[in-house]
Parts: sequence; structure tokens; C-alpha cells
Amino acid sequence: MIGRQREIAVLWHQIELARAGGLRVALLAGEPGIGKTQLLRELARRAAVEGITVLRGGASDAEGMPPYLPFLEALGRYIRAADPAELRAQVGALFAPLAALLPELADRLGDPTAGYPLPTDQARLRLYDALGDFLAAIGAQRGLLLLIDDLQWADPATLDLICHIARRHGLDGTPARLLILGAYREGEVDAAHPLAPLLWRWREHAEVRHLRLVNLPVSDHVRVWEPWPEVTRWVVSPAAS
Ligand SMILES: Nc1ncnc2c1ncn2[C@@H]1O[C@H](COP(=O)(O)OP(=O)(O)O)[C@@H](O)[C@H]1O
Ligand SMILES: [Mg+2]
Repeated sequence: MIGRQREIAVLWHQIELARAGGLRVALLAGEPGIGKTQLLRELARRAAVEGITVLRGGASDAEGMPPYLPFLEALGRYIRAADPAELRAQVGALFAPLAALLPELADRLGDPTAGYPLPTDQARLRLYDALGDFLAAIGAQRGLLLLIDDLQWADPATLDLICHIARRHGLDGTPARLLILGAYREGEVDAAHPLAPLLWRWREHAEVRHLRLVNLPVSDHVRVWEPWPEVTRWVVSPAAS
């Protein structure tokens, strides 16, 4: 991992605030290849070292992907790896609404009351509340870092859900020990993009940090130039570049 010390410090501070007891949202914008995913990975590594629970999911532009994909990925992985007793305590009375979206729960904890329907419009609020409460329960002991990559491809339902959780568990509601950290391709989000209203709503929120990744300064690089394999490496130091 080269550079990005400032960004890491800013985001780490948000993680600390969330861990101390309060929901935060951080957004990372930048062009493709600038290093968004790399930075998420580095923060995930550091958070895991500190004992913070880390969940990761990403949106996709592949065809046929279901709604809520980042949450299905993040929570599906968590459920498959979690200790069953701890999982049961975290899920509590939310089993039925959660199991409608997360079949892994029934696999790990046994069959729930069978045949709970997939969310209709009426059941959606209940599902959103259940997912938010589940995340709050997961983060209750050690804090939770929820990483959502490639938000520019997120389906509207995923964005609604993020908004709902942010409202319910922090921005205006009961705080959870949760940092939602999302990354997106800045150039792909214009005014008509589904992400735009969310960015607009959060633009001046004290609990939301918005960072823009730009190219690493040349001084952060040690460029290695190898014109021919047999020729000695030319290492251009920061001072010489
Ligand atoms: N700070 C960094 N230090 C070292 N390698 C990096 C850094 N940032 C990005 N990279 C590398 O550059 C490539 C593109 O970065 P990536 O994080 O995938 O970009 P993005 O997610 O913004 O499209 C990856 O191979 C990644 O490992
Ligand atoms: Mg990426």
C-alpha cells in the first residue's frame, strides 16, 4: 500500500467514532483504477487487526444480479462464518424477515417458520428495519465496518436500504456502532443517477464524510523502470523524480 496516509487517517477517525458508539457514513469517490478498492481493503485489514467486525459487499453491473446484492454478499459471508450461538442471539426475533432475504440463516440456525414470503412493498419496511437491527446487533460488541464497493452500480433498493439504515441507526435515530463506507466511480454519477439524491441529501450532514481520491503524488511513488531485463534496475527516488 503506497501513500494514502491522509485518507486512511480521516477514515480511521470515522471508524473510531463509530466504534465509540454512533453510526457514521463515509463515501469515497474517484475514477476507475485510482485506488478505491485498495483503500477499502487496507482499512478492512486494519479494522480486523483491531478486532472490529468487517463486512464487505459490492454492487455489480453484471446482468441478472438480484436487488440488495451488496447486503446479500456481506451478510451471507458473515452468517456462513459466524458462531451459531452468537448468530442466534444477534438475529433474535428477526429470524423470519431476515431469512426471507438470507437463506444462509436457515442453513445455519435450522428452518424458520416455513414459507415467509419474499418482501412485498408492505413488508419492505419490516425487512429494512430487520436488516438495520441485525447490523446494529453485529456491531454491538466490537463495532462494525460495512464496506460497500462500486456503489455506482447499486440497484435503487440497495440505496434505499442504506438510507433507511443510516436514518434509523444514527443520522436521526438510535446510534449503532457502525461505519458504512461506500466507494463509487465519480465520473459515472451524474444528476440523473440513482445515487445522486442520496449524495445530495447527505452533503452537509455532520456524520457523513465525503472523500475524493486523486492520483497519488509523485513523491509517494518509487518508480521502478526496467527497460531490459538484464539491465540493472533504475530506481527513481522521490527526490530525483
Ligand atoms: N495506494 C496504493 N498502493 C499500491 N497499489 C495500489 C494503490 N492504490 C491502488 N493500487 C493498485 O492499483 C490497481 C487499481 O486499484 P483499485 O483499488 O482496484 O482501483 P479502483 O477500485 O479505484 O478502481 C490495483 O491493482 C491496486 O492494487
Ligand atoms: Mg474498485
